[in-house]
This record gives sequence, structure tokens and C-alpha cells, in this order.
Amino acid sequence: MFSPVVLGALAALLPAAVQAMPASTQARAADATANPYTGYTIFKNPEYVAEVQAAVQQISDSSLASAAAGVEDVPVFFWLDQVAKVPNLTTYLAAADAEAKSSGSQQLFQIVVYDLPDRDCAAAASNGEFSISDNGQANYENYIDQIVASIKQYPDVRVVAVVEPDSMANLVTNLSVQKCADAESTYKTCVAYAIEQLATVGVYMYLDAGHAGWLGWPANLSPAAELFAQMYSTTGSSPYFRGLATNVANYNSLTTDSPDPITSGDSNYDELLYIEALSPLLVDNGFPAQFIVEQARSGVQNIRSAWGDWCNVKGAGFGLRPSTDTPSSLIDSIVWVKPGGEADGTSNSSAARYDYHCSLSDALQPAPEAGTWFQTYFEDLVSGANPAF
Ligand code: GLC
Repeated sequence: MFSPVVLGALAALLPAAVQAMPASTQARAADATANPYTGYTIFKNPEYVAEVQAAVQQISDSSLASAAAGVEDVPVFFWLDQVAKVPNLTTYLAAADAEAKSSGSQQLFQIVVYDLPDRDCAAAASNGEFSISDNGQANYENYIDQIVASIKQYPDVRVVAVVEPDSMANLVTNLSVQKCADAESTYKTCVAYAIEQLATVGVYMYLDAGHAGWLGWPANLSPAAELFAQMYSTTGSSPYFRGLATNVANYNSLTTDSPDPITSGDSNYDELLYIEALSPLLVDNGFPAQFIVEQARSGVQNIRSAWGDWCNVKGAGFGLRPSTDTPSSLIDSIVWVKPGGEADGTSNSSAARYDYHCSLSDALQPAPEAGTWFQTYFEDLVSGANPAF
């Protein structure tokens, strides 16, 4: 243990942003510049474990069932897609804290912060519960405040967050969509609020950065880097704002020797190429970002008719397992963010959140509402898993 004198000397070496934190958070911040996954065991999302266990019960083929049972061992992020889920976060953090105390191994819990007002502004399938015209910003701030209050109760559990999938990417490429243009300033204000507040309780954050087939196109790289760097500097350049998350809920490979034909024209045809192209631009703009990369559903390639297809893509398989053994020092970890088996959107064209992408010929149908369990899709992910379970 360090004596108080030594700790005081160490504190003097810490960046100003860290010194401004309360003492309890400051203690946790001493290694805030290191990979947050190192030395921690990821506490599995109990909600996903329960979904997988229920799904396994429904499988009659015994070899498929035993493969499917392996999925519950993989740590998957917990999506806070409604404010009503925050009490579950508290329950899971308490369980992680108890696990750390009984096992002696430090626990890390992974969350997705996903409740912006006018959410999913360029699509329909994941429209959320808050709207900008109806107190959306205040509702969002309250949602963040509840998450912060929950996390504050368990200072020994490390929390890693993916912040607001698709939000910034929509601001880079979809401002021609009226709903996105109207949401631009609120998205930035709300995301900045989330980053600043979550930093006060030591949450390691990766802001969502779309994927190679979205912001990885050469023309989008610079505007994307400028926006991400702007979010970093306006929120105080906190060491807890660790970097960016790519490929969330998407299907791209991390690396490949044979680019999928749909990527034709984009020199950044896989996630590693995208990250390597974006990183220097971020650094030029003052943001030394690290990355995490989703591979939950990336096990099978060459399954999409177009790179923009994202809804329940047929033939997908579970992909590389979460690991800090990555192909680049820019990548902190391979992760599974999307709970594979939860739908991306409904194929029912009369549903309020219907999006045409969910009825394309490469989308598995019939599909239930986004976020609800899609048993046949889960079984296909298990069958196609690469590596196999
Ligand atoms: C979609 C849904 C959301 C769900 C998430 C993970 O984005 O809209 O409700 O939590 O997928 O499955």
C-alpha cells in the first residue's frame, strides 16, 4: 500500500482533470490511462445469461443445444435502452460487487448508454422513449443522473460504457434527414452531459463511432475525427473518455484478406483498417483515442446485399470472442456489445417502429421488435459461429 504522503506525491503527477475528481474516484483514476480491461474479470450480464438459458431450453437438437449453452459464458454488454432499466443496473452492480468480495478477483461491468431523445434519427427500428419536443433533454439528464447515482454506490466495480450507438455517426452523414438535423444540438448537449457526468464516477467510456462501412469511407473520416475530438475537448479531455467503439450491432470483420464485395470502393474494408485510418486524424485533432471493436455477429462474411444493410442479416454467425489479445495496440479489447439473439427491428410493416431494412431480402423474417428475443436468429448465430462453440 502507498502511504498518504506517497499518494499525495502521486496525485501531483495526475492530470488536472483527475485531480478535480472526488478522492474516492481519484484513487480509482490512478491508472485511468491504462487499458480498463487489464486485470479485471468481466461480470456477465445476468439478463443475457437468462435469455440464453431460456433459448437453450427451446432447442430440441442436442448438439445445437449444447453449442448454444456455450454462449452464456461470453460477456455481453447490458443495454440501458430505457430509464426503467436503471434499477436492474443497481442489482447487477451489487451482484458484481459481491462476486469481487467472494472471489477476490476485481470485476468489470459493461453497459450501453442508449436513450437519447429522438433516438435513431435516421432509421425507425430503435426509436426511443424520449422526444426532444417533450422535455427530452431534461428526461435524458435525469436518466444519466440515475445511472451515475447507481454506479456511485459500488466504487469497487469498474464500469465500461459504450456511449450512444449511432448518434455521432448520424450527425456526420445524415444531417440531410430532417429528424437528425433537428436533433443535432440536443444530441451533442446530451452526449456531452453523459460523458461529463459518467466521468465523475470513473466510468471508462467509448463513444460509438459507427463502423468501416459508415464513417470509414475516406470522405467521412476527417469530419468524423473532428466531431469526436470536439466532443473530447468540450467535455474536459477526461482520461475516462478512453476512446471509441466500432462495429456496434454490425457485422464487419475485424481483419480480412478477402474483402467482402459489398465493400468495393472503400479502402477501409474492415474494422482494423478503419481504426488505423481514423486514429491519426483523431491525434491531429488532440484526441489520443483507444478503441474497442464489436465482433458478436461478425463470424460469417459475404452475407449482405449492400454494406448499409443492418437488420437481422441472414446467415450471420457469432464471431471472435471478447479478448484483450487484439491485432493492434490501438484496440483495448474485442467485445460483444449486441446481445446476439435480440432482434434489430421488426419486419411487420404496420408496426410504429417498422424500418424497410428489416424486410430486405437479406433480412431474416418474420422478425420481432428491436431488442426482443428472436429465437430462430439466435439459433442461426449459433450454427454459424466462427469460431464454433
Ligand atoms: C436495439 C434495440 C434496443 C436493444 C438493443 C440491443 O438497438 O432498439 O432496445 O436494447 O438493440 O439488443
